[in-house]
Amino acid sequence: MPVVIIGFGFIFNIMNGYLNGRYIFTFASAYTNSWLADPRFITGLAVFIIGFIINRGADRTLRDLRRTDDGYRIPSGGLYRWISCPNYLGEILTWLGWALATWSLPGLAFAVWTAANLVPRARSHHTWYRKHFPDYPPDRKALLPGLW
Ligand SMILES: NC(=O)c1ccc[n+]([C@@H]2O[C@H](COP(=O)([O-])OP(=O)(O)OC[C@H]3O[C@@H](n4cnc5c(N)ncnc54)[C@H](OP(=O)(O)O)[C@@H]3O)[C@@H](O)[C@H]2O)c1
Repeated sequence: MPVVIIGFGFIFNIMNGYLNGRYIFTFASAYTNSWLADPRFITGLAVFIIGFIINRGADRTLRDLRRTDDGYRIPSGGLYRWISCPNYLGEILTWLGWALATWSLPGLAFAVWTAANLVPRARSHHTWYRKHFPDYPPDRKALLPGLW
């Protein structure tokens, strides 16, 4: 991986961390204990947790593919049955959940930047799989089960 990509990752996460932390601890005025019972917080928390579990599980599947050799193989199991990039779907859901739970512009920005990064990446991964694996499951979509 080029060092510049790692640098961009650092900058991206420092900015997101700063904007979200600064908003939550300095600018937000609406987070009282009653926010914990707000449907936006509860739904956002549920979406965050579901996305996190999907992301970790899908990344684990990819790591396991690399335990036996250095090449690329067709991942299977879990959401891979329906889509090529469940790790990206999980990541996007995680930050959508965060945006909902915090109900904040910095949270929304994090979700939008993540989608802007990972939606095109999912499309290119999907196209690559189709091109390189003649036996790639024909019904498998890129990112959204049954849709896209
Ligand atoms: N929040 C954000 O904006 C953001 C942005 C980027 C990434 N992420 C997260 O960071 C994590 C990694 O992202 P990524 O883009 O690097 O994922 P990725 O392209 O799917 O690659 C992840 C790892 O799995 C390997 N791999 C992928 N497909 C494989 C296959 N079919 N067979 C064998 N090995 C395979 C890759 O090897 P190679 O390196 O050799 O290809 C790499 O080591 C994900 O959880 C993603 O959601 C988040």
